[in-house]
Amino acid sequence: MKNSVKNIVILISGGGSNMAAIVRTAQQENWQQRYGARVVAVVSNKPEAAGLAFAREQGIAAEALDHKGFASREAFDAELATLIDRHEPALVVLAGFMRILTPGFVERYAGRLINIHPSLLPAFTGLHTHQRAIDAGCKVAGVTVHQVTAELDVGPILDQAVVPVLPGDTADALAARVLTQEHVIYPRAVRALVQRL
Ligand code: GAR
Repeated sequence: MKNSVKNIVILISGGGSNMAAIVRTAQQENWQQRYGARVVAVVSNKPEAAGLAFAREQGIAAEALDHKGFASREAFDAELATLIDRHEPALVVLAGFMRILTPGFVERYAGRLINIHPSLLPAFTGLHTHQRAIDAGCKVAGVTVHQVTAELDVGPILDQAVVPVLPGDTADALAARVLTQEHVIYPRAVRALVQRL
């Protein structure tokens, strides 16, 4: 039955390690049989994104839609939505998708669009979160999974994880520590959602 299938579409821009963590967890925990949920497509706005090869190896439809070929943000988002909608998604997961989305796109997927952001929101929206946390003297940093609303990196928080900021930390060292926690909480947050769908 079409309606009982909870299709997940994941958008990436780069390495796709969060996407891979979700795909692996879905396989290991057999989300398809348990929740009727499966990752059906991975889409990147960067054709060279390494994550696309991983997705293909897993037998998942992997498609690139290069934003550079579009005259406006609206035109890109419209084509992206057309591509996504072919997969009839119950959930659209932004996993390191480094594009600001238009209000129309966000509205189209309202309630079924989520993002992971490498800070303890509402602190440090935007870019360079790790360096900014270090510069501010934060003793802890972390990661947030949240629902996407029209405003960037603002939206109901679904899950968070905290890591320490250690003396002498560089942004790269902190990012790596945070990323290990991203791989824990993003599959957990997606699982919690598909269980409820
Ligand atoms: C992750 O750290 C994610 O939190 C961040 O990009 C990285 C993608 O890594 N996202 C943002 O900064 C969104 N504003 P990945 O491609 O290996 O999953």
